[in-house]
Amino acid sequence: MTAYDRLRFGGPTTRQTWVDRPREEFLTPVPPIWPLTTERLVLRPFESEDGEAFVEAWADEAWTSMLLTRPMNRAEVVEMMRRRTTPGSGEVVGLAVVHDGEVVGDVMLHLQGTGLSEAEIGWTMLPQHGGRGYATEAAAALIRLGFEHYGLRRVVANLDARNERSAALCERLGMRREVHRLGDFWSKGRWTDSYEYALLAEEWRAAQA
Ligand SMILES: CC(C)(COP(=O)(O)OP(=O)(O)OC[C@H]1O[C@@H](n2cnc3c(N)ncnc32)[C@H](O)[C@@H]1OP(=O)(O)O)[C@@H](O)C(=O)NCCC(=O)NCCS
Repeated sequence: MTAYDRLRFGGPTTRQTWVDRPREEFLTPVPPIWPLTTERLVLRPFESEDGEAFVEAWADEAWTSMLLTRPMNRAEVVEMMRRRTTPGSGEVVGLAVVHDGEVVGDVMLHLQGTGLSEAEIGWTMLPQHGGRGYATEAAAALIRLGFEHYGLRRVVANLDARNERSAALCERLGMRREVHRLGDFWSKGRWTDSYEYALLAEEWRAAQA
C-alpha cells in the first residue's frame, strides 16, 4: 500500500489497519537489558567520555569520505556524543562497541515507520580496529536484537555505492542489495549513487537454522 492508495481511497491503508496500528497499540519499545555481549565484544549505550575515542577518526577526510557529513572537530564530536547520550524516544538505539575495555566503533539501529516494524542499521569502526571482523560481529548482534527483541520485519542499510567495505559488510551479514539509486546521495558537494541492502526476519531466521 502506498501513499497514492491512501489518496485514491481515502482513510487508512490496509497496512496501517492490519500492521502499523496493532503494533503501535501493543508494541512500545522497551529498552533491552544492556550490555549486549558477543564472543569478543561488549555493546553498551554511549557514555559522554566515549567522544574522545572518535575524535581522530572524525577529523580524518578519508575515513569520513563515505559518510554524508564532513569531517568534524573535537567540539563537534563532543556535541554529537552529548546528543547520543541524551535519552530519546527509544526509537534510536546507538551503542558503543567495546573490545577489551577500549571503544573500537559504534553501531546504530533506527526503528522506523508508524508501527516501528522496520529499522535502519548503521556502523562505524575506528580505522585502527578495522579488518578484524568487529563490525560484522557487532552488527550481527544488533540485527539479532532487532528481530528477537523489537520484533522487526525488515532491517535495511543505506550506503554510498562507492563504500565497498560497507557493502561487503552488508553481504557478510546476509543482507541483499535491493536497490541501486542513481544520484540520490548529496555528499561533499556532489550527487552520488546509493545502495539499499535489506534483510527480512524470515531470511534471517532461515540463515540461523
Ligand atoms: C564500513 C566499516 C564499518 C567496515 O569495517 P570492516 O573493518 O571492513 O569490517 P569488519 O570489522 O567486519 O572486518 C571485516 C574484515 O575483517 C576480516 N575478519 C577477520 N576476522 C574476522 C571475523 N572473525 N569475522 C569476520 N571478518 C573477519 C574479514 O575477512 C574482513 O577482511 P577484508 O576487509 O580484508 O575483507 C568501516 O570501513 C568504517 O567504519 N568505515 C568508515 C565509516 C563508514 O563508512 N561507515 C559506514 C557508512 S554506510
